[in-house]
Amino acid sequence: MTKMDDKNTQGVKLEYSNEPDVSENSILNADDFLLSILLQDQTTKKNILWMTDNYAKHGPGYEETSQITIPLITGKHSKVIRPRINKTKAEQLHRVRDKAEVFTPSWICNSQNNLIDNAWFGRDGVFNTELDKSWITNKENISFPEGKAWKDYILAQRLEVSCGEAPYLVSRYDTTTGQMLAIEDRIGLLDRKLRIVNENAGSEEEWIQWSIKAVQSTYGFEWQGDSLLIARENIVLSYIDYFKSRFGKSPAIELTREIAEIASWNIWQMDGLKFVVPLSCHEETVVDEGLFETTTATISCEGCSKNNIRKHNGVYCRIKDWQSNKTVKAVNLLKGEMQ
Ligand SMILES: C[S@@+](CC[C@H](N)C(=O)[O-])C[C@H]1O[C@@H](n2cnc3c(N)ncnc32)[C@H](O)[C@@H]1O
Repeated sequence: MTKMDDKNTQGVKLEYSNEPDVSENSILNADDFLLSILLQDQTTKKNILWMTDNYAKHGPGYEETSQITIPLITGKHSKVIRPRINKTKAEQLHRVRDKAEVFTPSWICNSQNNLIDNAWFGRDGVFNTELDKSWITNKENISFPEGKAWKDYILAQRLEVSCGEAPYLVSRYDTTTGQMLAIEDRIGLLDRKLRIVNENAGSEEEWIQWSIKAVQSTYGFEWQGDSLLIARENIVLSYIDYFKSRFGKSPAIELTREIAEIASWNIWQMDGLKFVVPLSCHEETVVDEGLFETTTATISCEGCSKNNIRKHNGVYCRIKDWQSNKTVKAVNLLKGEMQ
């Protein structure tokens, strides 16, 4: 084993306090690769884009269509990206007007996630009992209906559309109040899968194997790059929380990178109305070199002009089906290509 390998199998030393925001400096300090993985766009093989004009005031590199790079969000810029709850009122208002950014309280996320589980389990109140704008967690181990096993639950694919900071997937904090939630009371779709892994996996090896599958089967997409990064961070931090709570130590750097890599595929940047990288549709100039004269014409995107989801000239987003280990165009989800 090389010296590098030794380092990678050590527990990740990611320092974060019990509050919604985690500084990008602390991610960078924990591991050089981790933050770069979290910024990757697996479709373009570049970094994710800001896709909001909120940051343009910070100068070059912060324009709406620029990539988010490590120097722009670390060092003295470490506080640049903040969760919505920590943004100024003016920023919040601008984002409501610009991108209809209004986040959902945890009790509503819980109630809607419960509907999915009610249908899957064929009974109500599996994970918790709903109260008025809150819930009480059911403490006993969860039993499975006939014909369904705990591993089926882990493999069942779940998606949060227009995920923002992904409160339906992971609920470290209530995105509308900033209130932190104890692990045992979390209600996200991935939280539920990790609870099931906790209750059923015997060895550390089995826990790791199935917790990876839990993350692999959890998806979300979002337009704005800052929220997208926070959503990915929330996935990784939640994973670390569960690992620490189960084993009393941090996951290895290698494992943490693997989770970040999955999050960089599964939580992707997309215009959900077109299934392409936001703002990637464009006008094309067609040059016709005739016998006597050369003419040029400008053609707009057919998908945009005819509102045809399959005819965009922008970059169609690709996502991964981890069970078959194949990538597919996200637009193919419409014809049920993944399951
Ligand atoms: C109402 S918020 C919901 C966020 C989160 N799902 C929640 O419930 O708290 C809507 C989100 O959709 C995103 N959004 C707006 N237009 C979009 C589009 N065309 N494609 C993808 N995301 C979009 C916004 O950036 C915003 O984060």
